Amino acid sequence: QREKKRKQGANLLELAANFYRERRVMPEGRAARRYLEQRGLSAEVIDTYGIGYAPDSWEALKRHLDERGVSEAVQIEYGLLIHREDSGRTYDRFRDRVMFPIRDGRGRTVAFGGRVLGDAKPKYLNSPETPVFHKGRELYGLYEARRAPKRPEQLVIVEGYMDVVALAQFGVRNAVATLGTATTEEHLKRLFRLVSRVVFCFDGDRAGRQAARRALETALPQMLDGREARFLFLPEGDDPDDLVRREGAQAFTDRVTCAMPLSEFLFEQAAEGRDLQAVEGRERFASDVLAAVNKMPDGMLQSMLLEELAERSGLRQTQLETLLARQQARSE
Ligand code: GTP
Ligand code: MN
Ligand code: MN
Ligand code: MN
Ligand code: MN
Repeated sequence: QREKKRKQGANLLELAANFYRERRVMPEGRAARRYLEQRGLSAEVIDTYGIGYAPDSWEALKRHLDERGVSEAVQIEYGLLIHREDSGRTYDRFRDRVMFPIRDGRGRTVAFGGRVLGDAKPKYLNSPETPVFHKGRELYGLYEARRAPKRPEQLVIVEGYMDVVALAQFGVRNAVATLGTATTEEHLKRLFRLVSRVVFCFDGDRAGRQAARRALETALPQMLDGREARFLFLPEGDDPDDLVRREGAQAFTDRVTCAMPLSEFLFEQAAEGRDLQAVEGRERFASDVLAAVNKMPDGMLQSMLLEELAERSGLRQTQLETLLARQQARSE
């Protein structure tokens, strides 16, 4: 029963993806084609990512799916059709938007992101959580990155759909995006199964820097030996799309190569706003770093961070180990 429903859902999402692709090339998709062109996307990239267009209609997709025997209930369950309890009306969720299919690890479409062509709000609309779509698990562009001609050695985590496709347009095929949510532990587990290094590259704004701090917290428990996380901070006002367009692919990949190691970001965060000339400042600093180290799995990286902390705080490493053990006992 569940399996059958799942299949019907998967099938319906493929039907929808094809529908959006077809509409993009039809006369009604003219404005969408122009929009994609303005954003510098070639036919090849549009094809690789299966980008489409949801027509400006309340029920174009619904009629298309009705004709193919997909029940209304299933269309609602998979987030394509909205049902209003108050009026009893149903209508297509995505209208007059550029459509980005979100694919799972095997390339099956599990959800969509849709962008308005202009400045209307909301700028992006995503599928809701459905039986096949969990925002905290999927990463936009991961399937496409794995299918790139050159197998990626590291993956770059960015904020937006347009960042992923713009980088791909410039030949940078190893970017993936979280779907309007914070990076989750599950995201990182998936990525570290494929590569040993991830690079966080959020927008150069307040929200982006906040996202990086949260990503650091989420990454700490995943930092087994042999894994590496880095942070790339972009100039104020830039996102990866802006930057790669202005500076080109080489400049972007150079920045990725020089991205800040997790350890450095950690020390920088702990030092922020503190006077390390004063004992009190160093105490706060050491206490923050210890709390972070406490979240890491035991290993070489953890020991080496303690060693580095000893140097930077003036505390002896044996002393730090005692403090850490005490913290660990307390948090258990
Ligand atoms: P462009 O303006 O097309 O370049 O988009 P962007 O990717 O630069 O957008 P922005 O930096 O504003 O947001 C980053 C990501 O957050 C987007 O790709 C979306 O996934 C998500 N997002 C942005 N705005 C909205 C919104 O209004 N609603 C929802 N649900 N998600 C949004
Ligand atoms: Mn579920
Ligand atoms: Mn932003
Ligand atoms: Mn952005
Ligand atoms: Mn952007």
